[in-house]
Amino acid sequence: MNFLAELRERFANSLASLDGFTGDVAPVLELIRSSNDAKFGDYQANCAMPLGKQLGKPPREIAAALVAALDVSDLCEPPEIAGPGFINLKLTDAALVGALQAAAADTEHLGVPTVAKPRTVVVDYSSPNVAKPMHVGHIRSTVIGAAIGNVLRFLGHRVITDNHIGDWGTQFGMIIYGYKHFADEAAIAKDPVPELSRLYRLVNTLVEYHNAKNNGLPALEEKLATQQQLVDELKAVEPTGDKKADKAAAKRLRQAENSLNDLLGEQKSLEEKLAKIDDDPQLAPLATEHTNIARAVLDETAKLHSGDTTNKELWETFLPACLTAIQKTYDRLNVTFDHTLGESFYHDRLQAVVDDLVARGLATENEGAMCVFLEGHAAPFIVRKQDGAFLYSTTDLATIAYRLEKWQPDAILYVVDHRQGLHFEQLFATAKQCGCENVELMHVSFGTVLGKDGRPYKTRSGDAVGLMGLLDEAVDRARSLADASPMLKTDEERQQVAERIGIGAIKYADLAHNRTSDYKFDYDKMLAMNGNTAAYMQYSYARVRGIFEKAEVTETEALAGADQLVLGSPEERALGMMLCRFAESLDKVLEEYRPNHLTSYLFDLASSYAGFFQNCPVIKAETDSLRTSRLALCALTARTLGIGMGLLGIECVERM
Ligand code: ARG
Repeated sequence: MNFLAELRERFANSLASLDGFTGDVAPVLELIRSSNDAKFGDYQANCAMPLGKQLGKPPREIAAALVAALDVSDLCEPPEIAGPGFINLKLTDAALVGALQAAAADTEHLGVPTVAKPRTVVVDYSSPNVAKPMHVGHIRSTVIGAAIGNVLRFLGHRVITDNHIGDWGTQFGMIIYGYKHFADEAAIAKDPVPELSRLYRLVNTLVEYHNAKNNGLPALEEKLATQQQLVDELKAVEPTGDKKADKAAAKRLRQAENSLNDLLGEQKSLEEKLAKIDDDPQLAPLATEHTNIARAVLDETAKLHSGDTTNKELWETFLPACLTAIQKTYDRLNVTFDHTLGESFYHDRLQAVVDDLVARGLATENEGAMCVFLEGHAAPFIVRKQDGAFLYSTTDLATIAYRLEKWQPDAILYVVDHRQGLHFEQLFATAKQCGCENVELMHVSFGTVLGKDGRPYKTRSGDAVGLMGLLDEAVDRARSLADASPMLKTDEERQQVAERIGIGAIKYADLAHNRTSDYKFDYDKMLAMNGNTAAYMQYSYARVRGIFEKAEVTETEALAGADQLVLGSPEERALGMMLCRFAESLDKVLEEYRPNHLTSYLFDLASSYAGFFQNCPVIKAETDSLRTSRLALCALTARTLGIGMGLLGIECVERM
């Protein structure tokens, strides 16, 4: 049962009979919410006030009319009108008990209704560039995307998950160039992945070095000169004597000076970066020798794209090794995809994309490049470069066309880092003009994972932190928690629990943060046994499950006891109500694709259970039937926690 959805439906009927109301129902129904304070009942409808304004009538009168037409007697106590026109609704115990019994009888789905109109949704997530090992930046897309897919599926939607890996871009040009010039054949024969990623890093460093030297630094110097001129001009401005104007001028000067300082800072750090390489006895000679490396890497990439035999063969040998490496990370994270259709899959469809855009009159040539000019965007969306190369944008357009043709989706979700916001804005605006008019295209963007210092999480050498190492460390730390537990008897059991707590901690911490914010990666916090953490949730789950052992019943038997369910005390009722809110929390997750609504719910459920457990003896309940009733509440709690964590991609443990 989803009481909130049900109540909204009942209100929709009541609204239909409201005198004079002709507006849109949906925003009015939004104002029916679960109440934060049990004093005001379980749900509150706050729609009478805006309706009153709209219809020019006193809100209390509207509330009375709505209530008079409202048919909820099978669900609620008689509704109460409070204050200026709030409608407070309290579920009857009979309705609550009925819903809980239905949930208990539906062990896999807990009575959560599936949607009336399932949608087909493609979820594009994880999607790393595979020429290098996965790093901390990939955790968010992988974990958030998987959770969204799970929740969609649980609610009855048709979900297609697709890992759009970067297996065709410049990074392969880098590896190929690296292989041709710097490879250690023996290392490749032994284990290609570490050597390939060494080559990638080396070439990338050299490319960045020359780019900074040839483009970055001169551009910065030019900007500095302009800014310096502006500062000089502002300094030369004579005071006018008009206080306001002089103050404004002073402010302008301050701002200009600040910008100048920022630029000087940038220049300094870039120069330091370059000096680091100039001073490095190994890198410096390579940098001097490979001055044209940036161009050469692009050439190697272009050769791969145009079917050059050597480069194609190298790509065909390297790619499987790269894929095996990322698969290890997915296995460890227990994440799967329906499809892994990377960029290379689309390479022979790119020309057609450009042709189609031209035929539709959307793309035009500009200085040799093919561009889509979009309203509200200064820069065009480039789909083919001057030198004929296709881009990330072209591949993404081809991918959309393929997805439309293959799956006819209602929505495509891209779970990708916020820095790609502009790309997706332009991509969607273009796609909306060619075939995607009725498809929801959504960039489910997320913030950066930061280190304790509040800067992007990097190793000391400045690389992004490797994902496997991160998982290992979390599991190692969780192992000390497991070792301290008297409940865990064998080494194997301790290791399994450590694995689930460690990986769960990383996933949960990520999901529990509002996806659009940055967050600090902090092992101590994420592995804490109390607070909104995976460990606390797993512990709560294990604790509930422990009761069945003590009571000598199975969970199934305990669930069957729901036919004797009573909600006699406030804590039992509060727990029963919280259990029923599971369905609402899932709806909330999908409203804006934010899994943190589910973690918050699970935390509230665990807290509500703690309150119940403290006040209501289960095994020592006064009567047998009360014991049966409370065991059923325990079983529903365990199942809801277990299924909820499962949707987040986190496994619970039986004991800890
Ligand atoms: N491979 C890209 C990157 O690492 C992310 C791809 C996201 N998906 C997409 N369809 N563009 O930045």
